[in-house]
Amino acid sequence: MIDDTTRDELISAACAARQFAYAPYSKYPVGAAVLGEDGRIYMGCNVENASYGLSNCAERTAVFNMVSAGVQRLLAVVVSTANAGSPCGACRQVLTEFAGDVPVWLVDGEGNGRQTTLYALLPDHFGPEHLPDSD
Ligand code: THU
Repeated sequence: MIDDTTRDELISAACAARQFAYAPYSKYPVGAAVLGEDGRIYMGCNVENASYGLSNCAERTAVFNMVSAGVQRLLAVVVSTANAGSPCGACRQVLTEFAGDVPVWLVDGEGNGRQTTLYALLPDHFGPEHLPDSD
């Protein structure tokens, strides 16, 4: 259960991260914030490239930021876009690697939007349990 104060901090962090987005091609800046199991907030923005396919989404930037800090579990997600848009499929998959059915808030630039959950966004997802034992 995420308390209201933490939720508001996450929403503020996602909206702040969006200000740093590098999105000159799509002109669709995205900010994300994830709550790590260590209680810290990890932020990310989309980072585009002139070679378009190399662009990285905000959610994945935030997850990679968290993992790079030594934390491999997240408890909540916020995504901030101009229109409270939904995360792409690739980001849903990457989020499920490090999370259970956590709350996800999809908000606009002012922090207004809706709440859903990760498994609602990606039901019946592919996970490590589908892979053969690596031993
Ligand atoms: N984008 C994200 O950052 N997250 C998503 O979940 C959807 C798309 C970015 C990628 C690209 O920089 C821009 O939004 C337009 O697709």
